[in-house]
Amino acid sequence: MVLDAIQTRRTTRDFTDDPVSNSALEIMIEAATWAPNHRNTEPWRFIVLSKDGEMRKKVAQIVHDWTYENLKNPSDERRESSAKYAQQEILDAPAFMYVYSIHGRDDEMTQENYAATACAIQNLMLAAQSLGVGVGWSTGKPCLANVGTAVGAEPDWDVVGALYIGYPVKTDINTPQAKRTPVSDVTIWS
Ligand SMILES: Cc1cc2nc3c(=O)[nH]c(=O)nc-3n(C[C@H](O)[C@H](O)[C@H](O)COP(=O)(O)O)c2cc1C
Repeated sequence: MVLDAIQTRRTTRDFTDDPVSNSALEIMIEAATWAPNHRNTEPWRFIVLSKDGEMRKKVAQIVHDWTYENLKNPSDERRESSAKYAQQEILDAPAFMYVYSIHGRDDEMTQENYAATACAIQNLMLAAQSLGVGVGWSTGKPCLANVGTAVGAEPDWDVVGALYIGYPVKTDINTPQAKRTPVSDVTIWS
């Protein structure tokens, strides 16, 4: 069962308009909080930006502006269309959240916290899948735009991802062709 869920989960950001309820999001976040975490620091923090909420609009605008300013080697037209696309994708996502990791007492703990928070996101995605919900994890524009304190994150939290969440358009979301390198190519048995 778990193996099946792990293998059939796929990234998606192509969603229907169906809303994702807060109770479904709570189930996903609770699953996230059961991730392993060294010293029980529970280092994850989740910031959910409600659909059509002011904060979602504000973040979408920040990401728009960042994209416009930072897109490499573009024409003005390309910059604006990419910026608009990034903005609209955030506005349209049925659910959207940031996941942050808090700092530890030292670099070692901070790194452990980050690793634990990445595990938490994987738990969240598997829980989502069990509810028929898809997730797209991004460390791209919505994170690079550094919205941190604007959404209520503490200045020293590390952003681990922005999650686009919704019911996948494709009904075959669990069976698309996906490939991984064979175990023998990534494992040293000694
Ligand atoms: C840390 C991390 C960051 C990611 N950032 C992005 C991103 O910025 N944009 C994107 O399209 N996908 C992003 N992804 C999704 C990966 O591209 C995706 O997991 C990969 O293509 C494998 O597909 P799968 O998740 O369906 O197995 C990210 C995944 C991880 C784990």
